[in-house]
Parts: sequence; C-alpha cells; structure tokens
Amino acid sequence: MQSSGKSSPRKEEKSSNIFSPQKNMKICSKGLSSFKMGRLLGKGGYAKCYEVIDLTTKKLYAIKIVNKSKLVEEESKRKLETEIKLHKYVSSSIEDSDDKVSNITKLYQYFEDAKNVYILLELCENLSLDMLVKRRIRLREVEVRCYLAQIINGLKQLKRLNVIHRDLKLGNLFLTNKMEVKIGDFGLAVQLKNPTAKRKSVCGTPNYIAPEVLDEERGHSFEVDIWACGVIIYTLLVGRPPFETRDLHETYKKIQRASYSFPKHVKISDNAKDLISKCLQIDPQKRIKLDKMISHSFFLEGFPELCPVTTLTIPPSISYSEAFKPKSSSPRKTLLKTSAFYRNSYQPKPAKQALARSMKATTHRNLPQRVGL
Ligand SMILES: Nc1ncnc2c1ncn2[C@@H]1O[C@H](COP(=O)(O)OP(=O)(O)O)[C@@H](O)[C@H]1O
Ligand SMILES: [Mg+2]
Repeated sequence: MQSSGKSSPRKEEKSSNIFSPQKNMKICSKGLSSFKMGRLLGKGGYAKCYEVIDLTTKKLYAIKIVNKSKLVEEESKRKLETEIKLHKYVSSSIEDSDDKVSNITKLYQYFEDAKNVYILLELCENLSLDMLVKRRIRLREVEVRCYLAQIINGLKQLKRLNVIHRDLKLGNLFLTNKMEVKIGDFGLAVQLKNPTAKRKSVCGTPNYIAPEVLDEERGHSFEVDIWACGVIIYTLLVGRPPFETRDLHETYKKIQRASYSFPKHVKISDNAKDLISKCLQIDPQKRIKLDKMISHSFFLEGFPELCPVTTLTIPPSISYSEAFKPKSSSPRKTLLKTSAFYRNSYQPKPAKQALARSMKATTHRNLPQRVGL
C-alpha cells in the first residue's frame, strides 16, 4: 500500500482531499505510513478492508479502503461523506452514552491520500456472520438467539438516534474476538429528521430489501431493519435467504407477496417460525417492534451472553443449548427479566457457568457434524 508521499504530505493531502472538513469529521493527522498493513479482512460492494497495526501504539484496527476511482461522480463522494459522518456520529454518541455495551462498529478516524479514502474502524477479528454461515452452513437456534439479541440491541441504539441502517445483512454484521456482534457498513444509513419521517429512495441488498422499499411512492422507515432481521433469522437457521431466486424480478415478486417456505429437511421450532413471520409482515405497521422482538417466545429457551469461539467452526453440542433453558417454573418471568436486562447490557453470570459446562461438553465428536441440527 502506498502512503500519501513522504516528501510533501501536506501539499498532497490538500490537493487530493475530496471532502470539506466539518465538525465531527476531522481528517486524521495520521497517514497510511503510521500503520502496517495486515491481512485482507473482506471485500464489499465498493470497499476493501484490511487489518492494520498502529506502529506507535501497537493497537490493531480494521481499515476500510475506498479507491477514489470509484468516487468520480459527485453523488458517490456525497454518499461516502454521509457514510463517514453518520457512522462517526453514531459511534461517538454511543460512546458518550451510559450504554455498557455497543453493538455498533466503532469509527475512529478517516484520512485520505491521492489514491484512496481510508476509514479507521474497530477491528472485528472474527469477520462477518456471512462468512460464519458459509463455514457452518447453518446455525443452531441457541446461537441465533444470542446473535439476534445483540442485533436488536444495536438497532435500539440506532433508533434512539433516529438512524435507519437500511443495509442490514449477514455481510454487514461483524464478530469481534470476544464474539460480540457489531453492526457495520453505514453506506446506506440515514438519519431521519423526526421519528415519523419517511424516506423514498430505493436502496438495499436485493435478498434483504423490504416490500415498502420497492414501492417508492409509499416511503419507508425503521421497519425496513426489522424486515431484514426476519431475513437474517431465516438465513442463519436455514442456510440460504428466504426469497432467493435466480432472477432479481422473481425475488422482488416473492418479497412483495412475502412468499417463502421452510425446507423440510431442517428442523426449525414453531417459535422461530413465528418470530420470522412477525418480522416478514408486508405491512410495516403490522411488523413486530424491537421491544416485542426481545420478549418473543423464541427467546424463552435461553441463550448465552456470547457464543463460544469454538462455534466459529463447530456447532455447539445439544447439551450446550439445554444449559441455557430457564429452570424457573415460569419461563415467561425469566424472559421478562432477560429483556429488561437487555435494555442496558447482557445476561448475568449463570450464562457464564453454563458456557464453561458446555465448553467441556463440546468434544471433537462434533467436528464432522457440519449440519448442526
Ligand atoms: N471493522 C471490521 N472488522 C473486520 N472486518 C471488516 C470490518 N469492516 C468491514 N469488514 C470486512 O470488509 C467487508 C467490506 O466492508 P463494508 O464496510 O461492508 O464495505 P462495503 O461498503 O463495500 O460493503 C465486510 O463485508 C467485512 O468482511
Ligand atoms: Mg458491506
């Protein structure tokens, strides 16, 4: 990777800047030469992301690199500027809040040179949920509960700031080294002027797009992220998205009718099916709300605070799933406690004990068992 040129970095920076610096969006005093590039973490629609180490502090980061050849049009420059500004705003607002946990990828700084724009992010070492599902084929319900609870928490944090993500999908959900879920990629996110405002532009990723987004006249709002949660739960449990076809128009038709079915060979609980159907309601007003989601019966069976790292490659054992089932005679009471807890942070200690038990129970016998059901 090239740095911005050691001989006259100031001059080069000045002539190549594509953004007008604004409040909350200061250009980092560092350049690429302050970092050592590591492995490629992933490629998205228009950016590549690498692991980097800050040579002064020895701290690890992810760096999202957007080539300026992709920013020729004013519109694409404006979009990248909005992405950085909004992501920085969300990231700093959560940091300044009382939240004990953030489920949003932190954005530290951005800088640029003649070739690229660089966005310095919190490193999510265990990559994306998309890559996890490709490896594992599909996940167990206990894992989906754990990931979904964190996604819901992240969406609540965004909603508080009137922000809709609009591109929630497995490829934009990252896992840290502790297996925390972080929502990333704010390329399509918007902040509404008020909670009842609507947006009209058609955007998103085909398989995850909500029906109201396809109908420009209707406009869309926060509910598009709930629809995407339905697609995410289905995809994590089944191994492929619910409306996937070979033809884009066919996919859109299926989305508009909310036409999907469950494969017979995969065992999916009625609770999971019910939650998916409540997220995939055609009418956004009838779609389940974030608060109702976390208290849905799907969560009754219990789940860990974080999934163990072994689950990156091996499905958790049956005894692992069982370990989180509430012992209380009133599972609903336990659930209410859990959802109250999720307003601020994660589940308390009992989950950790169960985790330790289950780690013992996860033996190599599970290794060849790629289909975890
Ligand atoms: N903070 C991060 N930590 C680890 N990997 C990341 C991080 N941010 C992005 N990635 C990886 O890079 C890919 C592209 O990043 P993304 O922000 O989604 O770009 P695009 O806007 O092009 O979709 C992601 O799918 C993921 O694999
Ligand atoms: Mg992306």
